[in-house]
Amino acid sequence: MTETVTVRVPAKVNVQLAVGGARPDGFHDLANVFLAVGLYDEVTVTPADELRVTCAGPDAAQVPLDRTNLAARAALELARRYGVDPAVHLHIAKDIPVAGGMAGGSADGAGALLACDTLWGTNAPREELLDICAELGSDVPFSLVGGAALGTGRGELLRPLEVGGTFHWVFAMAERGLSTPAVFREFDRMNEGVRVPEPVASQDLLDALAKGDADALARTVSNDLQPAALSLFPALADTLAAGRAAGALAALVSGSGPTTAFLAPDAESARTVGRALTASGTCRAVRVTESPAPGATVLG
Ligand code: C5P
Repeated sequence: MTETVTVRVPAKVNVQLAVGGARPDGFHDLANVFLAVGLYDEVTVTPADELRVTCAGPDAAQVPLDRTNLAARAALELARRYGVDPAVHLHIAKDIPVAGGMAGGSADGAGALLACDTLWGTNAPREELLDICAELGSDVPFSLVGGAALGTGRGELLRPLEVGGTFHWVFAMAERGLSTPAVFREFDRMNEGVRVPEPVASQDLLDALAKGDADALARTVSNDLQPAALSLFPALADTLAAGRAAGALAALVSGSGPTTAFLAPDAESARTVGRALTASGTCRAVRVTESPAPGATVLG
C-alpha cells in the first residue's frame, strides 16, 4: 500500500479577467483567461489517526488549519463520496502567496484531492474530480488542469487553451493580503448604477497566447478587478509603476490581488525587472518565473 503521496500544484495569473454584473447568487459571470505559472505548493498526504492539516512556508501562519482549509474540505468531500475514512495528515509546503490573487488556497484544494485519490486508490474519474473542485471554489478546477484555459460561468467551466511559447513573468508579493469577496464587493460598489457588459474573452489575447507572442499578449492583458483592488490598496500603483519603469511589457494586478504581475520579453529582462522591483521597496518579495506550468501532478 502507498504510505505517502505528494502532489505539486501551480499558481495562476489571469491574463484576462472580464467581470460581469453580480448574479442573483452573489457570484459574477466571468471570462477568465487563466495561465498557470511556475510557483508551486506541494501537498503531502499520509495516513493518520484523524484528519489534520499542517503548513510550512513563509506565509504559513496565515493559513487556517481547521476544516475550512480547502485541502481538508477536498479530502472530506472525496471521502464522503467514496465512503472512505478521511483519517489523513495533509501537509502543505506553501510557496504561493496567501490571499495573493494567485489561487494558492485553490491549489491546495486541488492538490489534496489528487493526493487523496491516489493514496486511497479511489480512482475517481477526471469529471468527478473536476466536479468536486468546482464545489470547493471557482478557481479550483483550473488548479487541477493547469496550462492555460478560458474559464466561464463563475470561472469553473473550463476550455483548455493553446499556448505557443514560454512567457516570462515577475510577481511582486504585497505587504498584506486582500480578500477576494471584498474586492468583488468593491467592484460592485464602483459599478453601482452602471450597466456592466457581458464578459467576453478577447480573441486578440487568445491569438497572442496561441502564438506565444509576448508583445501581443502585453497589448491585450486586462483585469476588470484591478480598479477595485487599487481602490482598496492604493499603494499597489507604486509597484505597478516601478515594474513598468524597469522595462516590463505589461504590469497588472493578478486576479483579485494584491500580488502584481509583470510580463517581460525574455528571462534576462525578467531578472532585471525583478531586481528593480526589489530595490524599489514597494513590495515584500519578488519571484521570477515562467508559464505555462502543468496542473496538479503526483510526484515520485
Ligand atoms: O469561488 P470562490 O469561493 O473562490 O469565490 C470567493 C468569493 O469571490 C465568492 O464568495 C464571491 O464573493 C467572489 N466571486 C464572485 N464571482 C466569481 C468568483 C468569485 O463574486 N465568479
